[in-house]
Amino acid sequence: MNISIIGTGYVGLVSGTCFAEMGNNVICVDNNPDKLSKLRNAQVTIYEPGLELIFQRSIEKSRLSFTDDLKSAVEKSDVIFLCLPTPQGEDGSADLKYVLGVADNIGAILKANSDKEFKIIVNKSTVPVGTAQKVSNEISKHGVNNFDVVSNPEFLREGFAVEDFMKPDRIVIGASNENSFKTMRRIYEPFVRQGNPILEMDTASAEVTKYAANSYLAMRITYMNQLANYCEKAGANIDLVRRGMGTDNRIGRRFLFAGIGYGGSCFPKDVNALIKTSIESESEMTLLSEVNRVNKLQKLVLVTKVLDYYKGDIDGKTFGVWGLAFKPNTDDMREAPSVVIINEILKYGAKVKAYDPAAMEAARFDLKDTIEYCPDEFAALEGSDALLIFTEWNEFRNPPLAEIKSKIKDNVIFDGRNLFTPEQMKQHGINYFSIGRKPVLI
Ligand SMILES: NC(=O)c1ccc[n+]([C@@H]2O[C@H](COP(=O)([O-])OP(=O)(O)OC[C@H]3O[C@@H](n4cnc5c(N)ncnc54)[C@H](O)[C@@H]3O)[C@@H](O)[C@H]2O)c1
Repeated sequence: MNISIIGTGYVGLVSGTCFAEMGNNVICVDNNPDKLSKLRNAQVTIYEPGLELIFQRSIEKSRLSFTDDLKSAVEKSDVIFLCLPTPQGEDGSADLKYVLGVADNIGAILKANSDKEFKIIVNKSTVPVGTAQKVSNEISKHGVNNFDVVSNPEFLREGFAVEDFMKPDRIVIGASNENSFKTMRRIYEPFVRQGNPILEMDTASAEVTKYAANSYLAMRITYMNQLANYCEKAGANIDLVRRGMGTDNRIGRRFLFAGIGYGGSCFPKDVNALIKTSIESESEMTLLSEVNRVNKLQKLVLVTKVLDYYKGDIDGKTFGVWGLAFKPNTDDMREAPSVVIINEILKYGAKVKAYDPAAMEAARFDLKDTIEYCPDEFAALEGSDALLIFTEWNEFRNPPLAEIKSKIKDNVIFDGRNLFTPEQMKQHGINYFSIGRKPVLI
């Protein structure tokens, strides 16, 4: 099938590459010239395990190409996927200017298209309920009717994007006519050969499903974070409580790890967008407003622990930092707790030396020259008084603790991801603060 992808970011590049891997001809469109020049030189523009191999293979087989020419991409394609940004607007709602702007352009292209071939426009961006209709209106205002708009929210996780796309738990398709369902089934059947479902529904339900899933996961994380704070005060250990809860089949084990708050490009803006649309529908999801509030506070719990330990005075202290990305296996820094925490401790006159296995370049964009960027995790400890851990990269899980102890001058670790056990820290004689567990004080 001939497919075009409009917007070649995390979702667009992964979707386009995976569709090409299944033998489709895929044209990826983007309007960022730097990104395009890298992609045209066969350079992957995001950090995503497993992507490089299938990206190179599809380029070699000429099944994957990149352009800024929306018109030729639309004309050559049967199905056009919109993978455009839907950032948070000032009032918390999803900003649809990219999606509706491109829909308008597509309308003009379809009007001028002499072949009048039928096109399916698929919205893969995360969008509020009613957007499929708005996209349809933008296109049909040009006087064309040889198209259909489908909603197909994307559930991939950054860091596991290829794995998730190739073997999705389910595919959600919102459409209003059988021909569109049929075409979408044809595209997705190779991805669900093991029997995972393709769920067909109306566009409104598909649009809400995506927000419902993300907001639920954000709520689950937030529940565990608040419970962790309580465990600390109550003398309990959140990791033991988590195991006790998660082994209950009704609850399940995933998304129960306490930490320093959720971040990333999706959860914060999707929670806000659902709050906003629920208010507009006069059915406010007040539970989510509380999730939002608690998550903002959670990003500061490590700062409180640091200030308490140093009795409010960290002026002139240097903190080694391990991990900057909002989660492991990604270079994405959007809404990362690391930025909030670092900016806060800098205000108190402290210095920061940081290392992240993938997000150094992206971090420079956010944090500029306010911190020192180190080539590896041990360089971040040189001359540091304490270690702060923000991201649970695997390579930080089993480090030589004696070496860490010999480097950090004040012999203290503040761990926002519970990478180590209090027992390990006791054995090594390291002062240790984590989330939802008693501190270790030597
Ligand atoms: N990142 C994720 O993990 C994830 C997962 C599921 C869903 N989503 C949703 O998918 C959508 C895209 O997210 P993303 O993370 O891929 O965003 P992104 O910012 O990484 O990528 C968007 C791309 O669109 C391009 N673009 C912007 N305007 C354009 C235009 N007029 N023409 C062509 N290209 C244009 C940008 O240059 C960029 O490359 C969002 O709605 C997001 O909420 C994201």
